[in-house]
Amino acid sequence: MEYTKIDLVFSFTGNQILVKVSPDKRRQGLYSLNFISNFTCLRAFLSLRTDRSENHYQMSIKKHKMKGYKIMDEEKLKQTVKDMVIRGKGILAADESEKTAAKRLASINVESTEETRRQYRNLILTTPGMENYISGVILFEETLHQKSDTGVFFPEVLQKNGIVPGIKVDQGLADLNEDGEKYTKGLEGLGDRLKAYKKSGVRFAKWRAVYTISENTPSAEAIQRNAQDLTMYAKICHEHGFVPIVEPEVLIDGTHSIGQSYEATEKVLREVFEALKRDNVRVDLCVLKPSMVISGKEAVSRADVDEVAEQTIKCLKATVPSVLPSINFLSGGQTPVEATAHLNRINMLGKNLPWYVSFSFARALQEPALKAWQGKQKNFKAGQDAFLKRAKLNGLASQGKYREEME
Ligand code: G3H
Repeated sequence: MEYTKIDLVFSFTGNQILVKVSPDKRRQGLYSLNFISNFTCLRAFLSLRTDRSENHYQMSIKKHKMKGYKIMDEEKLKQTVKDMVIRGKGILAADESEKTAAKRLASINVESTEETRRQYRNLILTTPGMENYISGVILFEETLHQKSDTGVFFPEVLQKNGIVPGIKVDQGLADLNEDGEKYTKGLEGLGDRLKAYKKSGVRFAKWRAVYTISENTPSAEAIQRNAQDLTMYAKICHEHGFVPIVEPEVLIDGTHSIGQSYEATEKVLREVFEALKRDNVRVDLCVLKPSMVISGKEAVSRADVDEVAEQTIKCLKATVPSVLPSINFLSGGQTPVEATAHLNRINMLGKNLPWYVSFSFARALQEPALKAWQGKQKNFKAGQDAFLKRAKLNGLASQGKYREEME
């Protein structure tokens, strides 16, 4: 959605706005407009109503009015950042939705039920010693209300071990256009959900936007729409006392070259940080979770570890402000060993980077544990050992101290 580029003529009547939308931009869905006047930004969500004439859409202010931007409890947010950003540690993403969890469990022939998901979360989240390498865990909503085998709510299990619990707050993807691009759902009612999550002790949030690489994508439409939504999400988080993890993921799927990955990732990150800046979002109270600059998974010849590290560093230096405290990569379908090797090389080559550079992997941390466990109680310890090993190796990689022989 090219929010700022739509040619609009509008007039207010009460809380109604009559909008003239240029014909090629007509689309059902959620509209977001910025009204800039006297240096004050008033943002309103507008939703399309049914009555419309040929060129006119009747819209009503539906949900979210935001005048200015007020951070809740800045000192607490700063403390959360400190607790999340610790040398030698990273963030575990254990926030698979029910659908994704079902896929993961199916890979070891385990049926996904609320109980098997709980058992799996229990295995990972109660791993002794994980707090030495993991500073925070992103949880899925269901996990907030589940308990460990010893009857303790999972967020509390983490807190007791000095790990900050966080929460995935986006509600998955929806179609954006005919090129198969997506936007991320979940802005409506986000503030209310954050208020509820707070009761479980979670202190940071995550929102994932995805971009594909193909001849026509990522399009300007997807880049702008996702940057705007990530910005809105980050603001709402700050207003409710949560540190936002901003996750723009350029997907690894495809045959693209590392050059195409660089080009797409640079455009995406540039727009994200421009949008955050435009809306005065406090980037020093955010964490970035990007994808690495990497060849497509099905590319004929894939770039090696050095090139991935070099191109990723170059891209981050070109786009990410130094005031950002931490960059925690997603693994995005890389093998666990690949992801660790890349992170390590990035930290070896990027000696004086202004940000802390670490991990926020899901698959690359959990896959070996899942395989070792196989859903069987007798493999419980083997599963935890496999998880701890990956956490440790990635902790070392976040300091550039990992070596292949440690595998
Ligand atoms: O949103 C995606 C996850 O948080 C990261 O998952 O490391 O498997 O790509 P991944």
